[in-house]
Amino acid sequence: MLRQADETTSARHGLAAGDAARPASADWTIAQGWERYTAADHGVWKTLYERQTRLLAGRACDAFVQGMGELPIGADSIPDFRRLSEILMRRTGWQVVAVPGLVPDEVFFDHLANRRFPSGNFIRKPHELDYLEEPDVFHDVFGHVPLLMNPVIADYIQAYGVGGLRAQQLGVLDKLSRVYWYTVEFGLVQQADGLRIYGAGIASSATESVFALDDPSPNRLRFDLERVMRTRYRIDDFQESYFVIGDMDELLALAHIDFAPVYEQVQGLPEFEPDTVLATDRVVSRGTGAYHDARRKAAQP
Ligand SMILES: [Fe+2]
Repeated sequence: MLRQADETTSARHGLAAGDAARPASADWTIAQGWERYTAADHGVWKTLYERQTRLLAGRACDAFVQGMGELPIGADSIPDFRRLSEILMRRTGWQVVAVPGLVPDEVFFDHLANRRFPSGNFIRKPHELDYLEEPDVFHDVFGHVPLLMNPVIADYIQAYGVGGLRAQQLGVLDKLSRVYWYTVEFGLVQQADGLRIYGAGIASSATESVFALDDPSPNRLRFDLERVMRTRYRIDDFQESYFVIGDMDELLALAHIDFAPVYEQVQGLPEFEPDTVLATDRVVSRGTGAYHDARRKAAQP
């Protein structure tokens, strides 16, 4: 059955965790243990890498393609975080640190605020290629790390970490999580040559990288900060609406504005369901809703 996004546990992409897997270190980091990956692990990586590289040709945004091309990320093996960090550090001051899976919000934000990207060190099993409960090394490294080479996105994600710590204190984390969700995880960007993917949740998913761009079902709406803060999202299926930025500089602007007055403005206003299209929306393409309608029908007793 379909489940409405539960925004008390903010997301499946590094934003929430239980204590079960807590490692000894306070910041939840562990050694990547690159030497311990098996041939089967590298094989899963290769399958995913090759499939996704094929699918993303003409679909991923320029910044993603450029970042990927400059990093030691290839088909043959799971990347070594030390080698990624060396190059990232020189370019944008970021590094990749290994964690056992989802980490608590404050740990996650603290890493981002200090330009450390926490990545799951494990990889999904061969029978789980299209199903992922927690972000693994493929989602985190293939999906997120190429964009950390881009100075604008590097700043934006750090600002998100700083903003996350503050939003927690203000009790408005649900609002900020939606901004992260609809940008870093599921964002689209309008390039001169067409709509492109920059969200890691899309870029690392074979099915959603086609659905988000090519399927007539979802809405594609221009990004608007207040609107997005009021919009619930799906954690259990494809998104019903994607938000489109005009260019990467829109993220740069978001990294520099003070969210506090915006939180105040949206506080107490009605929230929007993931499929809502408003009269005030700037619509890039209005979805038919057919995909989710069929899923809802199938879920009825
Ligand atoms: Fe993610």
